[in-house]
Amino acid sequence: MSMIIRGGKPLRGIVRCDGAKNAALPIMAGAILSEDISIIDSVPRLRDVETMSDMLRSIGVSVRMAGTSVRINPGKPLRHEAPYDLVRMMRASFLIMGPLLVRLGTAAVPLPGGCAIGQRPVDLHLKGFQAMGADITVEGGFIRARTKKLKGAEIYLDIPSVGATENIMMAGVGAEGVTVIENAAQEPEIVDLANFLNSMGAEVSGAGTSRIKIQGVKRLTGTRYSIIPDRIEASTYLVAGAVTRGKVMVENVIPTHVKSVLAKLKESGAHLLEGSRSVEIDMPSRPMPVNIKTLPYPGFPTDVQAPFMALLAFGQGTSLISETVFENRFNHAEELSRMGAKIKIEDSNAIIEGVPKLTGASLQATDLRAGACLSLAALAAEGKSEIFGTEHIYRGYSGFATKLRLLGADIEETDLPRRSYAKL
Ligand code: EPZ
Repeated sequence: MSMIIRGGKPLRGIVRCDGAKNAALPIMAGAILSEDISIIDSVPRLRDVETMSDMLRSIGVSVRMAGTSVRINPGKPLRHEAPYDLVRMMRASFLIMGPLLVRLGTAAVPLPGGCAIGQRPVDLHLKGFQAMGADITVEGGFIRARTKKLKGAEIYLDIPSVGATENIMMAGVGAEGVTVIENAAQEPEIVDLANFLNSMGAEVSGAGTSRIKIQGVKRLTGTRYSIIPDRIEASTYLVAGAVTRGKVMVENVIPTHVKSVLAKLKESGAHLLEGSRSVEIDMPSRPMPVNIKTLPYPGFPTDVQAPFMALLAFGQGTSLISETVFENRFNHAEELSRMGAKIKIEDSNAIIEGVPKLTGASLQATDLRAGACLSLAALAAEGKSEIFGTEHIYRGYSGFATKLRLLGADIEETDLPRRSYAKL
């Protein structure tokens, strides 16, 4: 799939964000902790949500999507083994491991491969399950876990891993006794998962802080739950307004969830107007240079690093981005350079010498946030760009081209098979 973008037009208007992808995925996995039916509302229509639905179906769960509501019926006996091809497609599939250990006492999930942004091991997930009494073996590319009954444990996470915090939290909900996660991730999506589990009768406290306590319970009931808005999608459209020097109102965003991004946009010279569930951005001129260090929440989110680099490429000076969360998340820099950006990568730092303009080019997206970055740069560049690999974008941005078109962007989508650069 590809997109043709003709740049140079300031975006103006209103864009409404969907529910958070990174809340929907763990919550859909958590729904199988109960044998009852659960309904989750405000779920974004995304490829990753479809992949998670297929993953749940592959272990015997019935999943039905109607609009942005997902009905999950985990009642039938579950299979304990997840298929390789689905886990390969999406790392978040690994989040079914904790719930399967609670429901069946056994789970076999393929080791998720790395991806474009790095190796992405799951050692912290496994360390947590072992601390709770699970025997873990890795054979034939599968991680097999078995336990008679999970027992609560004190678990310290070397890194405040989002996925490990979520997987261990879900295992703790069905364990005997109390589990404490120290150095837990504090992202809003962790809080959303805890609220969802508590709405099923779990007893999770401290979510959103670095210490989460989970009192195991015997049974969980089904629930109906609506997930939080997507803070990364909101940040992406705010940056789109900034990079095209337009005026964009982003609706369905919780301003406190994007505090670090708003601070950096303000530093770059943007005028921001915060409502209770909206933020409007007005960007009169080229951005001032800013320095960014990606950190676990509440620090600047690594998922906004790539889109923000598109803005800083136009900076009135030199900016520095240091990526501390993933080891290889600068693939988009090379593509931006092909548009005339001046970016030097040194280890986990990107030094960006701002330029007054970029020119359109043929570009390759390697992951969803890199795809968003290149689209934003193309919207602000002079001339025409063609972006390949836009299927990555639709993993995490529902209606991406339509939403940008509604803001005045000149975007054409083609599902032509990938063409080699030579012909362009
Ligand atoms: C979640 O991934 C998000 N995905 C990512 O969003 C996000 O970038 C990331 O958190 C960080 O905020 C979902 O929520 C579905 P981590 P996750 O475990 O859980 C290392 C997007 O664009 N690590 O917090 O996989 C790991 O290698 C995606 O929407 C270990 O070493 O991230 C990484 O360097 C991309 N061992 C760091 O921790 C482990 O056992 C953070 O990973 C686990 C992680």
